[in-house]
Amino acid sequence: MAIPALSLHAFRSAQRAAPLSDFGRELLEGLSRSPRSISPKFFYDVAGSQLFDRICDLPEYYPTRTEMRILTECAPEIAAQIGPNADVVEFGAGSLTKVRLLLDALHVPRRYVPIDISGEHLEGAAQRLRADYPQIAVQPVVADYTMPLVLPSRGEGLGQRVGFFPGSTLGNFSPEEALAFLQLAQRLLRGGGLLLGVDLVKDPARLHAAYNDAQGVTAAFNLNLLRRANRELGTDFDLEGFTHAAFYNAPLRRIEMHLVSRRAQSVRLDGQRFDFEEGETIHTENSHKFTVEGLHALAVKAGLKPAAVWTDPERLFSVHWLQSPAAQ
Ligand code: AVJ
Repeated sequence: MAIPALSLHAFRSAQRAAPLSDFGRELLEGLSRSPRSISPKFFYDVAGSQLFDRICDLPEYYPTRTEMRILTECAPEIAAQIGPNADVVEFGAGSLTKVRLLLDALHVPRRYVPIDISGEHLEGAAQRLRADYPQIAVQPVVADYTMPLVLPSRGEGLGQRVGFFPGSTLGNFSPEEALAFLQLAQRLLRGGGLLLGVDLVKDPARLHAAYNDAQGVTAAFNLNLLRRANRELGTDFDLEGFTHAAFYNAPLRRIEMHLVSRRAQSVRLDGQRFDFEEGETIHTENSHKFTVEGLHALAVKAGLKPAAVWTDPERLFSVHWLQSPAAQ
């Protein structure tokens, strides 16, 4: 008996497993594009977050320890800029280590609002912070901070609103997305400002080493994306069939990370087949590097006023205080 096309389609749809997650949908789109790409936000499953913590401890990976050093050593100046009673808003729940440095430095900070898209770790992290800072109101918000959002209402006695966006996460955005984020922050932080950490342009050899560490932790972090896809989406990526590549794209002032197909091969996702040629890549991350002048120009374009910048003696990394003027 011939099966009519329509019912065959219905059969296939019914057979399909659970509807695709955000990761599944974005990977499907990303594999269908040319050149292929996927957002770096999908690096951070449990294993990926652990690998990222190991990256931060690598001798070659200078950004984390340099930013922590700036936050520690320049704390009195940062606190003086910000003033008392701060209402601190962190974009991305991030490492609670960094915000602790900030909270320790500030004069009687009143409230801390971590914003993160994933509610899973947010509440636990908030609990631990409350235990150590009983005078601070910790009010986590589950939201996508690249979209307009409303913060919990401000009680009595709060000082200026202080956005905190460390780690050069801004560098993951395209220049257009970075501008859009800064505009959003400018509106949210009116009358206060943004404390922003960004990595600086430097010797390409130094940048190259930071993303091609000798122990291969960055390679494992990159390849973990395929491991995650196999586990969560049922793809059949051959982990031996892809290799980590990271290089500095000097004209665009960014590190690019890719997963390179070592041979001709195909992969299945959601009933579709994707063919790779030998050497074809999936672009997994951009990590833009900034000059102080370039970052200032971007901030001004977003309506922010550069008021102070702190760097380490080698000028590897920078922390900026960008004021958001009160609305007239
Ligand atoms: C967390 C986005 C700042 O770009 O340096 C580290 C991520 N990727 N090694 C960076 C990352 C590879 C990191 N950011």
